[in-house]
Amino acid sequence: MKLKVALGADHGGFTLKNELVARLNEEYEILDLGAHTFDPDDDYPDFALAVSRAVAAKQAHRGILICGSGVGASIAANKVPGVRACLCHDSYSAHQGVEHDDMNVLCLGARVIGTELAAELAKAFLTANFSGETRHCRRLEKVLAIERQAIHDDKGGPSQ
Ligand code: RB5
Repeated sequence: MKLKVALGADHGGFTLKNELVARLNEEYEILDLGAHTFDPDDDYPDFALAVSRAVAAKQAHRGILICGSGVGASIAANKVPGVRACLCHDSYSAHQGVEHDDMNVLCLGARVIGTELAAELAKAFLTANFSGETRHCRRLEKVLAIERQAIHDDKGGPSQ
């Protein structure tokens, strides 16, 4: 079974997103969540939400988000419960983030890195697996507890 990967980008990441779609297309099942046309006035949170929802709802195994810097996309994506999105411009973080932290969305900045590095980072991210080691599970569970508490607080419950 092919890994299903959701991709999204605003105008800042539009070209790089299309290049990555073309490169990943054979090996992975691609869910291209836009932008589908170049619009200099579009907004990265819209694509971050689409990709994050797809990952959180398990319609995709992993997500890749691209904006100009990768910063806005990662901020927005991490607002969606179940998403662990990180901006990684080095290959160590791109795979270690999955192995240790169960990162499920990779964010990239198209104004910062080129296509070749982006493709290598995507490969490092997509071929990595969560280790399942006790210490990584314990830390992940603590992160998930923060998320649950934040959702609880948001609904007006008492904080601990
Ligand atoms: C859009 O011009 C740019 O601000 C956006 O793509 C991104 O870099 C935000 O973090």
